[in-house]
Amino acid sequence: RLIYILNGPNLNLLGKRQPEIYGSDTLEDVERNCRAVAAEKGFEVALFQSNHEGTIVDQIHEAREKACAIVINPGAYTHTSVAILDALNTFEGPVFECHISNVHKRESFRHHSYVSIRADGVLAGFGIEGYALATRRVCSLLG
Ligand code: DQA
Repeated sequence: RLIYILNGPNLNLLGKRQPEIYGSDTLEDVERNCRAVAAEKGFEVALFQSNHEGTIVDQIHEAREKACAIVINPGAYTHTSVAILDALNTFEGPVFECHISNVHKRESFRHHSYVSIRADGVLAGFGIEGYALATRRVCSLLG
């Protein structure tokens, strides 16, 4: 069984981008950590990143056929994208929203999330460990 780990804009620069906020680990580290957690429970992960809203919508549609759960960090689209919310509403499995930084400690425009309207759980401020925690939660929910 496959868990999709989706990442929005600018997260391709994770590790290089504002390391004082987002840390020095990269998306490859995220993928490795999630894969290890998932493998313990017999799950697989596929990690994607896109800077384009429509591509993320397409990846969510693909998840409908291929994945049993989604862990998503939509980046700035969290705060703007009704299209990503609508796409997630077509997905039947668990959805966990993950933010590396604590968005509630930051600018007020980061305090609202469209994705949270659909998410079964939200992590913010756990650094890249949030992705592994969300993956662990998916594995225990789907047993
Ligand atoms: C982020 C928080 C967002 O507000 C921001 O636009 C990002 C990253 C996070 O992981 O903390 O790109 O989702």
